[in-house]
Amino acid sequence: MLEVRRLAGAELHAQLPALAEVLADCVAGGASVSYLEPFSVADARAAFEEWAAEVDAGRRLVLAAFSDRELVGTVQVILAAPPNQPHRGEIAKMLVHRSARRRGIAALLMEQAELEARAEGKTLLVLDTVTGDAAERLYTRLGWSRVGVIPGYALYPDGRPCDTTVFYKSI
Ligand SMILES: CC(C)(COP(=O)(O)OP(=O)(O)OC[C@H]1O[C@@H](n2cnc3c(N)ncnc32)[C@H](O)[C@@H]1OP(=O)(O)O)[C@@H](O)C(=O)NCCC(=O)NCCS
Repeated sequence: MLEVRRLAGAELHAQLPALAEVLADCVAGGASVSYLEPFSVADARAAFEEWAAEVDAGRRLVLAAFSDRELVGTVQVILAAPPNQPHRGEIAKMLVHRSARRRGIAALLMEQAELEARAEGKTLLVLDTVTGDAAERLYTRLGWSRVGVIPGYALYPDGRPCDTTVFYKSI
């Protein structure tokens, strides 16, 4: 059974270890999501603690996907924006544990993230992702518009450079 829901308050803090496991697994699998090797579960936990503080401050949403009550995926919506962009949100850290991929979990997470962003008054979402990976196909399939590619924008965890594709979606 799959369930996606927004995490906040005590539940978010209780799920920090499971969220950290998913982030660490994605980096171990070579995902370019801000971090370089070596990257431990403790490093991942520290990152999620910072994001949880932003959730507590109303600046960010964290959603999680559960398979048979086990947390297997997560995505974030950055709500904080400059005063002249109150309608714009950003999708970040779409992560599905390697053991749970190719079951539609990311698609479910994104569907719920868009609903939650809309409920927060957002009408425009943006994101960027590694060019040529599963995530790029995901966003294209879900109706996101591809703005273009920035060559050599980021690094894979092993230090190789990677290109980034920028997307947007009106919701
Ligand atoms: C990108 C990522 C989030 C996708 O997660 P996912 O849950 O596997 O995504 P989905 O299951 O919705 O779709 C993935 C593939 O499975 C397929 N699929 C979905 N449901 C399926 C099912 N029931 N049976 C078989 N295939 C299925 C999709 O069609 C898609 O195929 P494609 O990659 O060949 O186009 C995941 O690969 C990941 O965490 N990657 C590392 C982190 C990362 O790069 N994040 C993006 C940062 S912006």
